[in-house]
Amino acid sequence: MQIRVLVVDDDQDILHALQKRLIWMGHEVLTAEDGEQALKLAIEEQPDLMLLDIELPGLSGLDVLKRLAERRSNVPPQYTPEVVVITAFGTIDRAVEAIRLGACDFLTKPFEPDHLAAVIEKARGQMALARQIGLLQAEVEGRYEQVIGHSPRMVELLDTARRAAGASATVLLLGETGTGKEVMARALHRWSPRALKPFVVVNCAALPESLLENELFGHEKGAYTGAGKREPGKIESAEDGTVFLDEIGDMPAGLQTRLLRLLQDQEFYRVGGTQPIRTNVRFIAATNRDLKEAIHDGRFREDLFYRLNVISLTVPPLRKRPDDLPALVEHFLRLHGASIAHRTFTVSPDALDVLQGYHWPGNVRELENVLVRAITLCPDDRIEPEHLGITAPRRLPVDVAFSEDETLNYHAVMEGYSRKVLEEALRRAGWNQTKAAEMLGLQRTYLTRLLRQRGVPTRPPSMDLPNGDA
Ligand SMILES: Nc1ncnc2c1ncn2[C@@H]1O[C@H](COP(=O)(O)OP(=O)(O)OP(=O)(O)O)[C@@H](O)[C@H]1O
Ligand SMILES: [Mg+2]
Repeated sequence: MQIRVLVVDDDQDILHALQKRLIWMGHEVLTAEDGEQALKLAIEEQPDLMLLDIELPGLSGLDVLKRLAERRSNVPPQYTPEVVVITAFGTIDRAVEAIRLGACDFLTKPFEPDHLAAVIEKARGQMALARQIGLLQAEVEGRYEQVIGHSPRMVELLDTARRAAGASATVLLLGETGTGKEVMARALHRWSPRALKPFVVVNCAALPESLLENELFGHEKGAYTGAGKREPGKIESAEDGTVFLDEIGDMPAGLQTRLLRLLQDQEFYRVGGTQPIRTNVRFIAATNRDLKEAIHDGRFREDLFYRLNVISLTVPPLRKRPDDLPALVEHFLRLHGASIAHRTFTVSPDALDVLQGYHWPGNVRELENVLVRAITLCPDDRIEPEHLGITAPRRLPVDVAFSEDETLNYHAVMEGYSRKVLEEALRRAGWNQTKAAEMLGLQRTYLTRLLRQRGVPTRPPSMDLPNGDA
C-alpha cells in the first residue's frame, strides 16, 4: 500500500536521502525543513505518516508533537498523521518524551534501510487502526444523527422533546426495546444549549456495582488496591454537558442511593474521596423496563423515580405508528445501501405491504436489521418480500383455521379464538400479565379473570413440567 509521508528535517542531506529511499519504496513524499512548515503541510496535505526530526530550528520537534496532540483531541483520528521521530544517537530521553507526546516510534540516526522499512510497516498498522476508529465513530454518530418521525404521535413527541431540550431538568425516556430512546437522548442533547459540550453514555446494566460506581464517580489515588492515581469518572468528564444513564432500571440498589443524592445536591464524592465535587451536568435516563413494577418489587427506589421523572417521554412502539414506516425504510436504505453495497435501493409495493403488516416486537432496531439483511441478500436494487425474511402480513393477530366438520356455534368459536388471543398476548409479553393486559387494551384484573375463566395457562409450557422432569 502506498502511503503519503511527510519528512521533516533541517539537514538537506538527510532530507534528500530519505526522500529518495521512500520514493524507491513506492511511497509519496512531501518535505519540510522546519516545524511551522511541517504543521502547515500536516493540516493541508493530510499525510499518513510524518518522519520528524526532533532537533529543528524555531519550533522544535517536540513542539510540533504537542500541537498535533491538541489537534488529535479535536478532529477524528484519521486526520492527524502518525509520527515517527528521528533522533541523534545518544538522545534516548528525548525519544521517550516524544513517545509520551504521541509519537508511535523513533528512528536513531544514522539508520539502516531495513530499520526504516520496519518502522514504516509498524506505523501503517497504527494508521489502519486510527482510520478504523474514525470510521466507527462516524458510524455511531451518523446512526443517531437523524430522528425520523412523521406520524402524529412522533411529531407531538418531538415537539415536546424540543421544548424540553432547552431546560436543564432531568428527562426520563421510556419505551420498548429498539424504539429509539438513545436516538431521542442524543437529539435532546443536540437541541440543548449544551450541544457543544460532551454527551457521555453510561450503561447501568453493563457493569457490576463497584465498577459502575467507579465509572460514574471516578476515584482518588489509593481508593482501593490498584488505584495508582486519581481518575475522574464519566460525570466529571461530561462537565457542562449531558450524561445519558442508559438502562437505568437495572442500576444496582446501592448506586441508586448515591445517584439520588447527586441529583438532589448536585454534588458527589469520588470513590475514596472526602471533598465534595460540584457538578453541572444534565441527566437523561432511559429504560425499557416497567419502573412502576420494579418499584413495586422493591428493585427501584421510588424517590429516585420521582427525581428522574421530572419530564418523561415515552417513545411509542413502531406498530403504533405505521405512518413512520415508509420514511424509516427510506432512511435505512439510504444509510446502509451506501455503506454496505454502494448503491441505492427501493422496496417493491409487495415488500412494503409485508413490512407494514408485521408487528415489529423489536421495533425500529428490528426494522433496521431486516433491511440490512435485505440489502445484503438483494441481487439488484429492488427489495422483494423474499429478501425480508419475515412472515407475510396476517389479517388477524392470531390465525384461526376452520375445518368443515367443526361446529360453527358462535359462542364456542369466539371463546376458542379469545383463548388463542390471550395465549398469544402472554407469549409476546414474555408471560408478564401486566404487559399482556396493556397490549390487549384490557384492565389487568379483567385479564386475570378471563385467563381463569378460559383456563389459559399463565406460564410457558416447559415450566408446567412435573417436578424433576426438567
Ligand atoms: N426515529 C428514528 N429515526 C432514525 N433511526 C432510528 C429512530 N429510532 C430508532 N432508530 C434506529 O434504531 C436503532 C435502535 O435505536 P435505539 O438504540 O435508540 O433504541 P433504544 O430505544 O435505545 O433500544 P434499547 O431499549 O434496546 O436500548 C438505532 O440504530 C437507531 O439509529
Ligand atoms: Mg438503548
